[in-house]
Amino acid sequence: MQKYLLELEQKALLELKAAKGAAELDKIRIKYMGKKGLLSTCMRKIREVPPDQRPEVGKLTNIIKKKLTAYIKDARLTNARQPAASPRLDVTLPGREPLWGHAHPITLVIDEVCQILSKMGFMVVEGPNVELDYYNFEALNIPKDHPARDMQDTFYISKNIVLRTHTSPIQARIMETTAPPISIIAPGKVYRKDSDVSHTPMFHQIEGLLVDQDINFGDLKGTLTLFLHQMFGSDTTLRFRPSFFPFTEPSAEVDIQCVICNGKGCRTCSHTGWLEILGAGMVDPALYKFVNYDPDIYSGFAFGMGIERIAMLKYGINDIQLFFKNDMRFLKQF
Ligand code: DAH
Repeated sequence: MQKYLLELEQKALLELKAAKGAAELDKIRIKYMGKKGLLSTCMRKIREVPPDQRPEVGKLTNIIKKKLTAYIKDARLTNARQPAASPRLDVTLPGREPLWGHAHPITLVIDEVCQILSKMGFMVVEGPNVELDYYNFEALNIPKDHPARDMQDTFYISKNIVLRTHTSPIQARIMETTAPPISIIAPGKVYRKDSDVSHTPMFHQIEGLLVDQDINFGDLKGTLTLFLHQMFGSDTTLRFRPSFFPFTEPSAEVDIQCVICNGKGCRTCSHTGWLEILGAGMVDPALYKFVNYDPDIYSGFAFGMGIERIAMLKYGINDIQLFFKNDMRFLKQF
């Protein structure tokens, strides 16, 4: 019996040492010392032991019980102090680099355009996004029945208030409050009811306006040529095409030779070899009567360009919607 008890003790201690967590310790406690546990059974069977050995066996059983109980108590305390799942801190690991923010590609292009034109003497100004019909249309020689006012293109806030459809109303606002000479550029958001791979309901434009004495079409050509050469490279070929805008006369559209195919013709340039990049012209004298400028003394030129279009050509992007999806995989590339 004594031999069996000592073997039981060794077995119990081995199991306790291997136990993980309080639940396993408790299982072992019940296995050996529960009501029907192995040690408790020994106590009950003590009557079967020869009478002279009974005190010895009883004593030994109690000692083993005490030993195991003490061991379990100890193990429980250590467990509580050292939760098994506690992560180890390795102070030698290199730190995690934070995500760096940076400017949006549209902001990058606006900044670049403004920087080039500022150096040429243009001052950066801004105007309201929510605009009076008067500045957006009327004062730009766009009469009430002009198709540009169509409800299908313009977001109307009320009968006389719109979300500006272009940055040109800033021309009218500046001339109204400032006497010539004027040379300004005005970047900003514009809004039109339009949405597909090349149109979004909100996009960006930059407007330019210069009014002084003796300004002619040559000044406009020189200014835009210098600007586009700085923007797209000095070997960029451009052409001025006759066009129409209600607020300029004569009007032109400026194309650059396709930057994708170098003028050979591809999908981006609709196989023409040319890309339309901006609208421009001499300020129509009809505008001067709204702002009390004397058309016999002053003349000027204006131009306007879409920022998304320039950004798409500069960075080779074929879907305008990408600029506004805030997909980190796209934005991280700039
Ligand atoms: N406002 C015109 C548009 O949104 C662009 C434009 C054309 C602006 C000719 C100008 C200009 O200043 O002279 O399509």
